[in-house]
Amino acid sequence: MALLDDALGGTRFSDSTPMLDLVRRHREEIASQMVARLAESDEFAQMMERNFGPYQRLMTYYECAMMEVETKFRVLDAEYGLQHDRNPIESIKTRLKSTDSLAKKLVRKGFPLSVESVERNIYDVAGVRVVCTFPEDMFTLAEALLAQDDVTLIERRDYVANPKPSGYRSLHLIIETPIFLQKEKRLVKVEVQLRTISMNFWASLEHQLRYKKDLDEETAAAVAAELADLAEVSANMDARMQALRNYLDGMEEG
Ligand code: GTP
Ligand code: MG
Repeated sequence: MALLDDALGGTRFSDSTPMLDLVRRHREEIASQMVARLAESDEFAQMMERNFGPYQRLMTYYECAMMEVETKFRVLDAEYGLQHDRNPIESIKTRLKSTDSLAKKLVRKGFPLSVESVERNIYDVAGVRVVCTFPEDMFTLAEALLAQDDVTLIERRDYVANPKPSGYRSLHLIIETPIFLQKEKRLVKVEVQLRTISMNFWASLEHQLRYKKDLDEETAAAVAAELADLAEVSANMDARMQALRNYLDGMEEG
């Protein structure tokens, strides 16, 4: 796998340009082909048989960790509601990465295909997306979560202060939190994405539009530029809504 990764250039794709996108699509295609070929092999069938139990168990741990993290946010939301007469959270969604996506990500990043490797190398198996009403709510909630003594921050990426070239905005946290089983306590990693309604609206639609295939280079660049511009429009709306919120809060206090 390390060899494969070297051959593919070992590029990290946190940035997005038409050229990088092209290379990424190529790598993803190769990963898909490899996974498809593996899925048909006897070796893979045997490996699955050996690992099905441990794999299911690991996935259950991630499910449990997502429940814990979702509950933490629901508690914070309820408390904030008592204090401020409004709720900072619009909605919460959890998702477990599919087996297919996990296998593709392991291959793409050059990690071994095993249950231990998933636990060690993939930080976004469990995902919790928290959609907030106002931008400041995202940071208030993130701070309150990270202040909890059973939450450890592994990685923080602020795509609000530093939007992606695509225009993508959100606050990403990789955290580790315990789940309590009958006889042990296990630390489990969870990816938390905090967004406003407006950031979520943009990301959902951009995700749909991005996968439109067969665009020539010029059209693809024009679509990307339009989406990046729309992200600015969306950020501007968030800022104005926040300003209005702060103005009204100030009037209540004054
Ligand atoms: P991965 O290998 O995919 O985890 O990339 P990464 O480690 O660079 O993670 P990143 O911080 O880019 O976050 C990945 C997740 O953020 C994705 O699964 C999406 O949910 C979201 N995301 C990141 N960039 C974009 C984007 O440009 N558009 C949309 N719609 N979502 C994005
Ligand atoms: Mg990631």
